[in-house]
Amino acid sequence: EEPPKPLMVKTEPEPEIDDGRTKVTIFFGTQTGTAEGFSKALAEEARARYEKVSFKVVDLDDYAAADEVYEEKLKKETVAFFFLATYGDGEPTDNAARFYKWFTEGKQRGEWLQNLSYGVFGLGNRQYEHFNKIAKVVDEHLAEHGGKRLVPVGLGDDDQCIEDDFAAWRDLVWPELDQLLRDEDDATVATPYIAAVLEYRVIFHDHTDASHLDRSLSMANGHAVHDAQHPCRANVAVKKELHTSASNRSCTHLEFDITGTSLAYETGDHVGVYCENLIEIVEDAERLMGLSPDTYFSVHTDKEDGTPLSGSSLPPPFPPCTLRTALTRYADLLSSPKKSALLALAAHASDPSEAERLTHLASPSGKDEYAQWVVASQRSLLEVMDEFPSARPPLGVFFAAVAPRLQPRYYSISSSSRMAPSRIHVTCALVYDKMPTGRIHKGVCSTWMKNAVPLEESHDCSWAPIFVRQSNFKLPTDHKVPVIMIGPGTGLAPFRGFMQERSALKEAGAELGHAVLFFGCRNRKLDFIYEDELNKFVESGAISELIVAFSREGPTKEYVQHKMTQKASEIWNMISEGSYIYVCGDAKGMARDVHRTLHTIVQEQGSMDSSKAESMVKNLQMIGRYLRDVW
Ligand code: 2AM
Repeated sequence: EEPPKPLMVKTEPEPEIDDGRTKVTIFFGTQTGTAEGFSKALAEEARARYEKVSFKVVDLDDYAAADEVYEEKLKKETVAFFFLATYGDGEPTDNAARFYKWFTEGKQRGEWLQNLSYGVFGLGNRQYEHFNKIAKVVDEHLAEHGGKRLVPVGLGDDDQCIEDDFAAWRDLVWPELDQLLRDEDDATVATPYIAAVLEYRVIFHDHTDASHLDRSLSMANGHAVHDAQHPCRANVAVKKELHTSASNRSCTHLEFDITGTSLAYETGDHVGVYCENLIEIVEDAERLMGLSPDTYFSVHTDKEDGTPLSGSSLPPPFPPCTLRTALTRYADLLSSPKKSALLALAAHASDPSEAERLTHLASPSGKDEYAQWVVASQRSLLEVMDEFPSARPPLGVFFAAVAPRLQPRYYSISSSSRMAPSRIHVTCALVYDKMPTGRIHKGVCSTWMKNAVPLEESHDCSWAPIFVRQSNFKLPTDHKVPVIMIGPGTGLAPFRGFMQERSALKEAGAELGHAVLFFGCRNRKLDFIYEDELNKFVESGAISELIVAFSREGPTKEYVQHKMTQKASEIWNMISEGSYIYVCGDAKGMARDVHRTLHTIVQEQGSMDSSKAESMVKNLQMIGRYLRDVW
């Protein structure tokens, strides 16, 4: 039997062969895999429709080894599609960042993309300020440079049903491609396509054969560079509860030990964490699947004869393991199922009425019901499976088409690499919500962290595959430059790192500029996290002033932005002296309100009109003096 592919394989770039066929390139900028999945689904259907055309799916990061090559390569493209997700504060995904920077800041002028026909589909969330910014900007730039826009930019909205948005956009693509790619003699053009339910080949192993175990335990720690595809196993060294016992919420301080690994970070970076599902959730899934947790299996992306499966939209496989491990580490069991998952369940429902209802939910006529019963109710995959007891797909289908891969969670690192080079600190609020169905949703990673067993308590401690993601949320290189930090709740995390960094710098004799921190929480007796540390940072001079807004102590809410307004002239003076402004935390409410307050402060204190204030704030953002780390 073939050795299984390593954990989370990256798609290899296909070799370029000129076989004279028209080529269509489908680019993706993906973070959690949705954009990649859509690009592969488009390619799959397109290959079935246009047999004489070659469709190539390309990870934007793999397209060009160096910036200089982009232009030369793009000029040769005749038809291209772009699937681009927008993240955080209107940022591109990691794998699209280099291309985006080059394409939007580049010096290319004129209509150098005249040969190109293109379409862009964006993946975003309407709740955020910069809804689908990356897709919109790339779409505009492509047109500006002479590209012919085949279809309007697709604005996928993850807040609703992004699969529907994709399907609607795709329906606009086919007539355009028919026109563009139609070959007079080619009768195969525009053959209707029926998406097949694809299946991994599954091999059941004798679990006394330990050779499979080694592979899954190695967890890729031999890699010199760790990223989402090559995480590094790190032990939990320390765990602490940050709320007081009077609080009915929870916030965990966790420290990963990275001693002896090749992991390294800089203050302000993010850490990606692959966590585990709770055992009670895993047991629910095992019960629903009706299989023994000890079932030892592996999944394969090729057929028995070694040829690859035609479906390329399958998620990456994982090393051979027990069903218990697969459900614990690799399956997202609590998100709402996608429509494609409902169809896969329908295909394996032995009760025809269940199959019919599942198919209906995934169909255009069941759109409203899906929006209500699945999305708005936040029904988990397991809840849905519970409602359809006859829909029991085989293992391969379950892991290929029903349960998506469990994604890593990102956290702003709350330590300083200068002070704690061998530890990555995380500050994580527990997600614990009652859903419309009555289900208590326990956030997968925050619950895992809250339950983690640190090395301090046991040698058999908790560990997780982790990796570091670089950010541009960094202190000024000149330590004398003043800084304004705004971070309520766990938005405090990167600033704790900043303050540790400044402490270390001060101890080393550096001269520090003025620094103020605006922090906000509900009540000093409940959730004033790191209170002692913060007071010590003030005492030691790591920061000049700590300003705290308590939202639930007095008769009215007091938020960080109210405190900012009280300190308007001081903030204005600091900005005039060249200060950096940092905001971290919730993007939907806090960061938006803080942004408005900043605008007002600039307008009033600087005695300028609104548009002048806006361009000044925009400029601060552009030159990197106003930075946001928001989610
Ligand atoms: P609240 O929960 O009492 O509304 C950390 O979560 C702190 O941020 C809490 O004190 C919370 O207050 C506050 N907060 C909630 N919404 C906010 C907003 N839009 N702007 C600033 N702070 C906010």
